[in-house]
Amino acid sequence: MKKKLAVFASGTGSNFEFIAKEITKGTVDGEIEILVCDKPGAEVIEKAESLSIPVWTFDAKLYPSKQSYETEILLKLREIGVEWIILAGYMRLVGPTLLSAFENRIVNIHPSLLPAFPGKDAIGQALDAGVKLTGVTIHFVDAGMDTGKIIEQEAVRIESQDDRLTLQKRIQAIEHELFPKTIQALLTSIPREEINS
Ligand code: GRF
Repeated sequence: MKKKLAVFASGTGSNFEFIAKEITKGTVDGEIEILVCDKPGAEVIEKAESLSIPVWTFDAKLYPSKQSYETEILLKLREIGVEWIILAGYMRLVGPTLLSAFENRIVNIHPSLLPAFPGKDAIGQALDAGVKLTGVTIHFVDAGMDTGKIIEQEAVRIESQDDRLTLQKRIQAIEHELFPKTIQALLTSIPREEINS
């Protein structure tokens, strides 16, 4: 039986699109039940709509606290039986409400070799630091900023002629392959009974 996923995203949604593509091909044994987006007008929303994936958009400024919007999200996810949360460019820290309800079932992708360059603009941080290697990390989400247990990593070499755009392009090409593959590995390695316990 297909695992029920929620994807959270704030921006372009290229990772969202690649995960959806692999699901259609049958290489990821899941179903995206909902896209949760905190940026009304973000490109990812159109992508979900064109694939007939339900979208829930919210504006955090209209809620008194993280707890209050996360409680609303949690109710929705429970209503539709979501088992895994996939963060694909979601630009907010996840709070205790979702973390405790989805322990070890929230996964994030980050464009660096963590623990190097956590937080915003990881690609710019790597270029500024002058390192020769950066990459992609997929990790479980905990309360910290990109600090959860690492699941998968792949390195990308920084060439002397790289700028932010060229490096981002190579990093994203890796992300688009590695994220669906890693999600599939996770979905098939944890028994459903354990997920529901
Ligand atoms: C990705 O590079 C991901 O690593 C980071 O945010 C970016 C999202 O890109 N967390 P997209 O919206 O999937 O194109």
